Amino acid sequence: MKIVIPGGTGQVGNVLNRALTAAGHEVVVLTRRPTRDREIRWDGETLGRWAEVIDGSDIVINLAGRSVSCRYTAPNLQAMMDSRVHSTQVVGEAIARAARPPRIWLQMSTATVYAHRFDAPNDEATGVIGGSEPDVPDYWAYSIEIAKAWERTQEEADTPHTRKVALRSAMVMSPDRGGVFDILLRMARLGLGGPVAGGAQYVSWIHDRDFVRAVDFLVDRDDLTGPVNLAAPEPLPQRAFMRALRSAWGVPVGLPATKWMAELGAFALRSDTELLLKSRRVVPGRLLDEGFTFEYGRWPQAAEDLAQRVRLRRVDRRRSGAGVPALSRLS
Ligand SMILES: NC(=O)c1ccc[n+]([C@@H]2O[C@H](COP(=O)([O-])OP(=O)(O)OC[C@H]3O[C@@H](n4cnc5c(N)ncnc54)[C@H](OP(=O)(O)O)[C@@H]3O)[C@@H](O)[C@H]2O)c1
Repeated sequence: MKIVIPGGTGQVGNVLNRALTAAGHEVVVLTRRPTRDREIRWDGETLGRWAEVIDGSDIVINLAGRSVSCRYTAPNLQAMMDSRVHSTQVVGEAIARAARPPRIWLQMSTATVYAHRFDAPNDEATGVIGGSEPDVPDYWAYSIEIAKAWERTQEEADTPHTRKVALRSAMVMSPDRGGVFDILLRMARLGLGGPVAGGAQYVSWIHDRDFVRAVDFLVDRDDLTGPVNLAAPEPLPQRAFMRALRSAWGVPVGLPATKWMAELGAFALRSDTELLLKSRRVVPGRLLDEGFTFEYGRWPQAAEDLAQRVRLRRVDRRRSGAGVPALSRLS
């Protein structure tokens, strides 16, 4: 199949591109800065020649959006909103104008759309959409506004021949450098992988292989439309989540951090504590109801697998590094 991935140069795009290319599909990425084969320039805002690649494609998976790993200042929040809404709008326009529109448009959304809560998990049918929780900073509501606007933009697109699914994804855990797992593992290795602000807040996650399998599943199932949670069935409190991660890497201790220490750390890393402190208790109601099975349903096994793959990659990198002087001696 021909698969177009707008915004496919980041962590999730790399996960999908690798897997879909290995499965024999033709993958084309839309990016603002093309550097490689099979990358096409777009600006994420306006229609252009790039739209030709959507015409005749089979699947579009739109991932574009300003990274959420930043300080949540007013300009950054606005950029997070605009980049998501505008890119979704223009992808919709490209599909609407296509003579041969794709069969399916998977639109990235986020598990962050659900409320900060501890008492019960959020599935698509009974979950509580966030934005009016008491006792959370006001600005957290803006992330939910972004998620809602993102999904609404896809819903409103006039693309009658294309099935639309919104991926309410939890954190995608892959061994890639700079990805969420890499960052959390680095913190754990520095001894900073302990509970944050008590660690009762839930962490939702999905192993990269299950993410790709869930995308495959959704592509195959012509009867599924609308929002679908992409999260492993067992979210767990942050303190247990980090304990399992430490154990997977063999780190004996993780210093606990208070809320203000987390604020300082997030400030130093130019990130925001919402990413650490919000309780994201999200479960894959629709996927399970429809018969999807997870290979990595529990975090300890998923963390073991990811840690093992990080180790293997390091060995590979060291080996290929060692190969350079050997080769240059030959020449
Ligand atoms: N990673 C996760 O665990 C996770 C979980 C849930 C939801 N999501 C969402 O899934 C999407 C992909 O995640 P990711 O981790 O791969 O993100 P990422 O690494 O930040 O990549 C997103 C891509 O969006 C493009 N982009 C950034 N700013 C843009 C703008 N102003 N206009 C148009 N395109 C822009 C960038 O491509 P170019 O610079 O090449 O143009 C970038 O590669 C994001 O929208 C993210 O919010 C991610």
